[in-house]
Amino acid sequence: MEFNDKVIIISGASSGIGAETARLLSSMGGRVVLVGRNQERLNNVVADIIKAGSPTPHAIVADVTKDCQRIVDETISHYGKLDVLVNNAGINIEIPIMDATTLQYEQIFDTNVKSVITLTKLCVPHLEKTNGNIVNVSSICGMVPVYSSTFYSMSKAALDQFTQCAANEFGRKHIRVNSVNPGLIETPIFETVGMSPDEIKTFIEENGKKYPVGRIGRVSDISRCIAFLASERAEFITGTLLKCDGGAVSAAAY
Ligand SMILES: NC(=O)c1ccc[n+]([C@@H]2O[C@H](COP(=O)([O-])OP(=O)(O)OC[C@H]3O[C@@H](n4cnc5c(N)ncnc54)[C@H](OP(=O)(O)O)[C@@H]3O)[C@@H](O)[C@H]2O)c1
Repeated sequence: MEFNDKVIIISGASSGIGAETARLLSSMGGRVVLVGRNQERLNNVVADIIKAGSPTPHAIVADVTKDCQRIVDETISHYGKLDVLVNNAGINIEIPIMDATTLQYEQIFDTNVKSVITLTKLCVPHLEKTNGNIVNVSSICGMVPVYSSTFYSMSKAALDQFTQCAANEFGRKHIRVNSVNPGLIETPIFETVGMSPDEIKTFIEENGKKYPVGRIGRVSDISRCIAFLASERAEFITGTLLKCDGGAVSAAAY
């Protein structure tokens, strides 16, 4: 299988896009390291993977803003190598600029940007040994301004530039660096930003009508893009920001 015996760290694997990516890459033979703060949700994803008959994953309860060194050390001591880093953990706080605080700015940037830089720096010496690669999960919000998500949009724009700079710098080390930039994807992130179930339902329906393909995204839309970029099929692709948005940006439907 495509990821047979490849060791893959996935941050934010306890939910949404990260959880689906863990399920998919495990089903393709990958030895997946799931990272998240919520032990119960991580355990649920581990159980899904074992139930599907995929290789037993390794879960690390950790906060990417504090525990990057432990995440990498534990991965290497458990598996002895690293092939792929998927920087997926991310948060949004929806708030207009005039109400937002610098603490919120720091929370978003610490999670969405600083942790990616830290994990990348710690993983590069290991990825160099395996001709490995990095896939960052960004957003179309890094490409277009989104109302009330200013700090989030800024963080994803910074992440996109980091992806391209890192691809440039690590190319000679035979490490590829790419990102997937999703449009709206149905995940628990909408609950996390404080929307009620009714608001989420309306939000999904209304936005689906605006998207050229007639729906917003599913987690499987994104996990398949991550799998492609992380695989050898993408061996000549680096520094790419892959929009996966049902045409939303092209149609200005964000
Ligand atoms: N859903 C969308 O519409 C959408 C669109 C574009 C881009 N994205 C991006 O896709 C990525 C995944 O989002 P999602 O929609 O799947 O959201 P989600 O379901 O809320 O999942 C977010 C994941 O990030 C983890 N996480 C957050 N802060 C963390 C921290 N400090 N340390 C460790 N893990 C942390 C969470 O785990 P714990 O809570 O267990 O720590 C969770 O597993 C994010 O980068 C997001 O910006 C999402």
